Amino acid sequence: MLICHCNLITQKEIEDTIIQLLEKDPWTLIVPAKVYHTLQKRGRCCGCFPNVVETIIRVTEEYHARSEAGGEEVVSHLDRVRELRVQYGSRTHERRTTSHRAA
Ligand code: FES
Repeated sequence: MLICHCNLITQKEIEDTIIQLLEKDPWTLIVPAKVYHTLQKRGRCCGCFPNVVETIIRVTEEYHARSEAGGEEVVSHLDRVRELRVQYGSRTHERRTTSHRAA
């Protein structure tokens, strides 16, 4: 599934990049710009960022659930990521107007 229409980035590419970043440093704070920088891409309209934030949260939770890390540290780390929902307006507003939709 395509997440970023501007850069043609799929959900799988985003997930693989997040796992790659977590394997380098399991406690790194991953934000959409870090994922895009790793993919050598840049956010253009940034309308995909709310979905990228949700993917970061889901993949990071799954990654740490598989690891032997302590629960308190994971919650603290993910709370910082969840704060990005406020910054990027996740779920409530994709910052796209209907006139910018391709379909
Ligand atoms: S949809 Fe990803 S930058 Fe526009």
